[in-house]
Amino acid sequence: MSTVISPSARAGARPPRVEARRGAPLVALMVLAVTAVAALAFWDERREAAVRLDEFALDQATIARSVASELSTRLASLRRDALVIAESQAEGRRAPATAVDGRIAPVMRAAGAPPPSPTGTSLLLSVPAANGMILDLQVAPAQLLDEARHAERPGAVRVLLARLGTGELRATDGGAVTSAPIARGFAAGESSVWLSRAEAAELGLPRRLAAAGLGTIDAGPFGRWGVAVVSSAERVRDHEQRAKWRLVLGVLVAAGLVFLFGTAALRRQRRGLLLERELSLTALSRERDGELATASRAATMGTLAMGVAHEVSTPLGVIAGRAEQLAGRVSGDERAARAVEAILEQTERIRRTIQGFLDMVRGEARPLDDASPAEVLGGAVALVEHRFAAASVLLLTDAPAGLPKIRGDVPMLQQAIVNLLLNACDACAPGGHVAATIESDGARVSFTVTDDGAGITPEAAARATEPFFTTKPRGQGSGLGLAITSEIVKMHRGSLRLAPNAPRGTRATMTIPIPEGESHVPA
Ligand SMILES: Nc1ncnc2c1ncn2[C@@H]1O[C@H](COP(=O)(O)OP(=O)(O)OP(=O)(O)O)[C@@H](O)[C@H]1O
Ligand SMILES: [Mg+2]
Repeated sequence: MSTVISPSARAGARPPRVEARRGAPLVALMVLAVTAVAALAFWDERREAAVRLDEFALDQATIARSVASELSTRLASLRRDALVIAESQAEGRRAPATAVDGRIAPVMRAAGAPPPSPTGTSLLLSVPAANGMILDLQVAPAQLLDEARHAERPGAVRVLLARLGTGELRATDGGAVTSAPIARGFAAGESSVWLSRAEAAELGLPRRLAAAGLGTIDAGPFGRWGVAVVSSAERVRDHEQRAKWRLVLGVLVAAGLVFLFGTAALRRQRRGLLLERELSLTALSRERDGELATASRAATMGTLAMGVAHEVSTPLGVIAGRAEQLAGRVSGDERAARAVEAILEQTERIRRTIQGFLDMVRGEARPLDDASPAEVLGGAVALVEHRFAAASVLLLTDAPAGLPKIRGDVPMLQQAIVNLLLNACDACAPGGHVAATIESDGARVSFTVTDDGAGITPEAAARATEPFFTTKPRGQGSGLGLAITSEIVKMHRGSLRLAPNAPRGTRATMTIPIPEGESHVPA
């Protein structure tokens, strides 16, 4: 992780538009939940209704099969009676009353003779008898479906009799009826068929969906017969309608509950967001207040520093003047001459540094020189060597040959590097290592100071260039070192980067751009 030093990098309050948008997912979730509940309930109701209708049709088919089985019994006994009658007639006897039973009108005819036309609503049944004769019987449909008539309910259930293969379809009162779906159902061997509203109305049933259960039998010489039990699905449909209303009511109640709880949750969330916003605004204003206080302290200190610089320059001038006087007098004593020279050098350095700070505080441009990066680093290292020796921290430098020159204020750049080196030295325990290296990519020159010390936290890295920010014990650090370095770097249009160094320690990199057209010029 690396942190580019910039005060604006600190987080501010979240924009209100973003906060307003945070309620939207809850509303969407509520709508989704209600839609899902409604869809599920609707799907379940549709499935239930389909099952109920299937069961209804199945019931009609069962009734039709039982009526058909009764019809089969009746036709079998009719056939027995017809044979007894035929035998009696052949022998010239009266047929037993039990066989005739007053319900049938038996007539014998030769096999080739045309059958008589049925009277009224009767059905004509023919049975082959002895001597090539045929016995014709006329039977009312009600006689064949005596029991089944009880299953009929006017306006709700009808029982119909079909002679399969002839297209003949009769009601229990003998009246002829037509129904295309029932005829198709018998032809296709279905056990039940559905009748539309119009088809149900044609059969005298309510204008609602109806189901016809179909049962078929094979009555030997009387042919194949079919029984249709047609029932209006009115009650099933009414039940379905009621279920639909219950469903709508259920969904409305569920939606009401979801929206009730959702709105409560939304309100609570909104209150939380408002509180969070207020807190972040308070934190922001506190942070701003802190920044303002720091800035005003820095301004005061700047003024103070200017005053101090002004006051120091006078005695400094005296020291330099006296040293120059001394220089003439100690010309024979080489050791004393070197000491005087050192005094003059250091007073000049102090003067230039003070002048640099004053220019910086006043925002004035400083005269810039072409400088060799290696010399800049060498000068800075020379100023701190004694501190490293005292702290027993090993300082290594690496400045490759052929580096391009940079343009800048050499004492100021050295001061910036000195601050980085001192921080690295302070972070190391005795025996620690610090490396100061230079590299260039042709467009920039980077001075990197790496240590294997305590390391820097991301929070400290983010605030390190703030004036007066220090983690050092009182009296050991003013928190101005990196603030000054950062100003010097800015003055040279460069950048400063602090980052944890793997596996431990800190890496501080100060990058200064190479003036255009000079990137090829080796130092
Ligand atoms: N190499 C480093 N290792 C660990 N922490 C560092 C390093 N360099 C800077 N810091 C952190 O940044 C803070 C600010 O550094 P800065 O140089 O501005 O002030 P200081 O060193 O505390 O005091 P001053 O330099 O004024 O004596 C330090 O207190 C320290 O917490
Ligand atoms: Mg420092």
